[in-house]
Amino acid sequence: MRRLIIDTDPGVDDAFAIALAARHPDVDLLGVTTVAGNIGIEHTTRNALNILSLCGREDVPVAVGADKALCRPPRTDDAHGNDGLGGHGYNIGTSSASVDPRDAVTFMVDQLSAATEPVTIVPIGPLTNIALLLAAHPGIKSKIDRLVIMGGGISGGNITSTAEFNVWVDPEAARRVLVVEDVPVTLVPLDITMKCAVGDEWLSAVSSANAVGRELAAMTPHYREFYRQEVGRDDFIMHDAIAVAEAIRPGILKTTPLELEIDCTDGPGSGATFADLRNGLKPPAHRLVDVALDADVDELRAFVRDELTSRY
Ligand code: BDR
Ligand code: CA
Repeated sequence: MRRLIIDTDPGVDDAFAIALAARHPDVDLLGVTTVAGNIGIEHTTRNALNILSLCGREDVPVAVGADKALCRPPRTDDAHGNDGLGGHGYNIGTSSASVDPRDAVTFMVDQLSAATEPVTIVPIGPLTNIALLLAAHPGIKSKIDRLVIMGGGISGGNITSTAEFNVWVDPEAARRVLVVEDVPVTLVPLDITMKCAVGDEWLSAVSSANAVGRELAAMTPHYREFYRQEVGRDDFIMHDAIAVAEAIRPGILKTTPLELEIDCTDGPGSGATFADLRNGLKPPAHRLVDVALDADVDELRAFVRDELTSRY
C-alpha cells in the first residue's frame, strides 16, 4: 500500500491526478493539501473538496495551505478558467465535507509523524507549502519516502518561453525544494508531460466510461484552447496525472540524475529551471535530482486511461 499526500492547486489536470489516486486499491490517500496557483486558494480548496466528492472520497481530509508565494506578488494565468476547472466546476456537485481545521503544513507534519511507513508526497502545484514544510520541520524529512513533483521544464517553458507554471509562480520555493534540500525527489517536468499528451480518442474513452470520466473530460475544452493559443498544441496535456502515475507505479517514468538551478530573478528567464546536462568530472555543487525525461508513453497513456475507466 502506498501512502500518498497530494499537494495541489486544482486545476483541470490536477482533477485528473486526484481522480487517478482517489480510488486506486494500492493507494492510501492520507490527505490533500491545497495551495494557490492556477487560481486563488479559496477556489483551489473548494475544487479539491468537490473533486474528492465526485470521486466518492469525501472522507479524505483537505487542509488549506499557502494563499500566496513565499515572497512574490501573485502570478496567475487563464489556462484553467474563472473557476479553476475550465468553467465546469459549477457543474460537478458540491461536497458536504469541511476543510480540516489544521493548516497544510501542520496537517502534513501530523500525518508524517503518525505514519509507520514513509509517505510519498506528490506536489502538483507551486512548491510553497513544501518549502515551508521542509524549512520549518527539517526533522520530518526521514518520514518522506520521496517527493514526486510536477514542475519545471528543462528544454523550455509553457507559461513563458523559459518557465514552467508551477516553478514560475514561486521560484524561491522551488529553489529551496529542488536545490537546497536533500529529500529524495523525482521531478516530472514539461519535457515528459508534453510527450504524454493525449487526443480526442483517449478523452472520449474516459468520458464515455463513467460519470467521473464524463465530468473530467468536460473540464478540458477551455484548458486545451489555452494550450492551442499559447503553445500551439491541440491535444490534452495532463501534466499532474503523470506525476501521480509515477507515485502509484514507481518506475513508469525513466529518470536521469541532474543538478538543477532555478532562475529567481525578475528577468526574462524568471522561474526557469536549468539542468546541467554536461558530463564534466567535477563533483556537483548541489544535490542531484532524478528528473523524468523519458517513458514508454503508450504504456503511460494506457495506464491512466485504464485506471480512470475501471475504478469508477
Ligand atoms: C502545471 O501548471 C498548472 O497549470 C498545471 O496544473 C500543472 O500543475 C503545468 O505547468
Ligand atoms: Ca497543478
